[in-house]
Amino acid sequence: MKNTITSLFQDNIEKGSELMEVLNSDWASRHDAFEIIVTLLHSLIVCLDKIACDSSCRWDAKISSHAFILSSALTDFDFVVTVVILKNALSFTRAFGKNLQGTASYVFSAANSLTAVLHALNEVLDNIEVYHEFWFEEATNLSGKLHIPVKLPGQFRECSTANLQHDLISENFYKDALSIPTIQHIIQGLKDIFSEQHIKALKCLSLVPAVMSQLKFSTSEEHNADKYKSDLPNPDTLSAELHCWRVKWKHRGKDVELPANIFESLQLPDIKFFPNVQAVLKILSVLPIITMESKCEPSRNRLSFYIEKTPREQRSSHLAFLNVNYDTKHDLDLMVDTYLKAVESKDKLDSIPPHTDIAEEV
Ligand SMILES: *[C@@H]1O[C@H](CO)[C@@H](O)[C@H](O)[C@H]1NC(C)=O
Repeated sequence: MKNTITSLFQDNIEKGSELMEVLNSDWASRHDAFEIIVTLLHSLIVCLDKIACDSSCRWDAKISSHAFILSSALTDFDFVVTVVILKNALSFTRAFGKNLQGTASYVFSAANSLTAVLHALNEVLDNIEVYHEFWFEEATNLSGKLHIPVKLPGQFRECSTANLQHDLISENFYKDALSIPTIQHIIQGLKDIFSEQHIKALKCLSLVPAVMSQLKFSTSEEHNADKYKSDLPNPDTLSAELHCWRVKWKHRGKDVELPANIFESLQLPDIKFFPNVQAVLKILSVLPIITMESKCEPSRNRLSFYIEKTPREQRSSHLAFLNVNYDTKHDLDLMVDTYLKAVESKDKLDSIPPHTDIAEEV
């Protein structure tokens, strides 16, 4: 693959070396994965074909036939047009998605950009003719470069044997079958996942002192924290408490570091003097898209470890959850009691494997 990239990117050595680095990374889960596929498509096909057509017996038959199947799949116009359209359609949410996985300030800015993202996507949908024409041209250009014939997927080919305006038929087909539903799906997905309430909650991230400082301490969480009024220990003093919280950080001593995320804020020794702030931060930390920055990696490792070492039929999502979070400071006796009660009430006690020691797992 490296040799192929070197020779295909002779005119742009910089791009070539950038791609080699990409290949060494976990690129398939990057936000620009589709862009990378489009850029690497030619190299991938060349490599697969080399393996498939190799006569020097360097590869065994199974590998060559696998390469042949993969290459045939990649050299299908249906595949090319799909990755090109996905690349373009997802470019409107790429920054948003990336920000959501960043630090608290990035997540906060993502929450504030949702309206603009939705606006851009709706603009695309309103002018899909123009956008799709451009995307489709990019797909046909790429196919032309790779000598891939532009054609409809098998089951629809019959309909277009009339051949005249063949290109127009394909273009319209992919507009209706791919571009429009993709954009609609992204818009719906964003609306489903990020309800107004969820976004309001995310905007409470400005309680994190580092975010607060970026906003020059002129933040107003009162309004956004409304939703959680019933969860707050002293809702009546929220306003005054938030005022003190801002003043505390605004007029901090020179060498006082601003907590950069929810986790660090919750670790502050004097957080207990801000019970409402503490409650809101705790709620925020369990919202589905928030990563607990400094904890996330070990948790994920523990989850992988649990899944690896536990045979499928013995896995329990409750135990996995406890296992992942075992370093969180909770009242373990209470947790076990609650867990047992929950299981008992569902009459599922029998389903716990007898050799599973809950306390040990905790
Ligand atoms: C497709 O190729 C033509 C001819 O090289 C070029 O003028 C055009 O800009 C390309 N279109 C896209 C969308 O890349």
